[in-house]
Amino acid sequence: MQCTRKITDSIYWVGVNDRRLNLFENIFPIPKGVSYNAYLITDEKTALLDTVDGDGKRPFFENIRYVLDGRKLDYLIVNHMEPDHCANIENLIRLYPEVTIVGNSKTFQMIDQFFDISLPETQKIVVKEKDSLSLGRHELHFYMAPMVHWPEVMVTYEVSEKILFSADAFGTFGALDGRIFADEMDFDRDMLDEARRYYANIVGKYGAQVQALLKKAAALDIRMLCPLHGPVWRENLDYFIGKYDLWSRYEPEVPGVVIMYASMYGNTENAANALAMMLAEDGIRNLAVYDVSTTHVSELISEAFKYSHIVLAAPTYNGGIYPVMANLLHDMKALNLSNRRFALMENGTWAPMCGKNIKSMIEDLKNCTVIEPMFSMKSAAKTSRIGELTDFKEAVKASVKA
Ligand code: FEO
Repeated sequence: MQCTRKITDSIYWVGVNDRRLNLFENIFPIPKGVSYNAYLITDEKTALLDTVDGDGKRPFFENIRYVLDGRKLDYLIVNHMEPDHCANIENLIRLYPEVTIVGNSKTFQMIDQFFDISLPETQKIVVKEKDSLSLGRHELHFYMAPMVHWPEVMVTYEVSEKILFSADAFGTFGALDGRIFADEMDFDRDMLDEARRYYANIVGKYGAQVQALLKKAAALDIRMLCPLHGPVWRENLDYFIGKYDLWSRYEPEVPGVVIMYASMYGNTENAANALAMMLAEDGIRNLAVYDVSTTHVSELISEAFKYSHIVLAAPTYNGGIYPVMANLLHDMKALNLSNRRFALMENGTWAPMCGKNIKSMIEDLKNCTVIEPMFSMKSAAKTSRIGELTDFKEAVKASVKA
């Protein structure tokens, strides 16, 4: 049976939800699943915007068959060639052999790399920036969005209904529970954390390119945002565009403190908990504590994109940084985390060294500084050190308030 919804009188969501996949890109846990969105425009000509992941083949083609209702498919617009969206191109051509593929020159390069398809030139349309394609009443305009999130990415603006098909931009993790519009759910409660985790980990590295796309989008009159993952936006678009603007400028969403600790036997953890208690007692409300060993790094990255201040606490290991903490710092660098204030708590039973090493990795992050002095422990934070921990807390708090 088909599982489609109209997003306007003549445009349908024909995507699929995946609640079986454990790891998106075989890296990121998706406990709430993920949607692979595809859209079908029915006009004098019919046009499908993107396909879905290979595992969604059966429901996807049921949806297309239902919406086409015996009509032929004229165009496939390929906005993005990552396999979570392109995997069914070859199957689509087998089922609709007359379809014309629309993409840019890099799209076709990647089609050749991924598939053994030999389409006649008459079934290919290579588009460039601001090229257009008429479907009848609907007119598609194409805008290149390189590195949001791959080099071939483009977005498609439909002029008559003012819809931006935005590829990975404005996507989120999380399957759509029948409610395909953001205004049908409590987005802040149910999806914002997954949206940020998706953004920070998938597109986070490419802030400058997202900013370039936001500039292009600002010149368009957009009434609806249709991403390749997560809900469609038809109300309050500025709210979510604002989030993307903040994230892509690497500005924190909230002034507050996230404490990320690694602890072998609970002593560093104890110091981190004591600090959290002190900060909460002093009125810091945007406050979170994570165990780096038991929290997936994608969640930690998401929280690092959210908070203005990050306290890292870790033991020394092999004369350097405890491995899970080193991995987190490596990801922060890879994803371009910038503009944050850090504070450090280190531990080491005979030669605490990890603070110095963490500091040097933080100095490699753009516009990130470390609040001095760090809080250094030998084995455990004894009650006799409460004065020093209080001073450390005061320095963090003063920086948040500033
Ligand atoms: Fe959802 Fe970059 O693919």
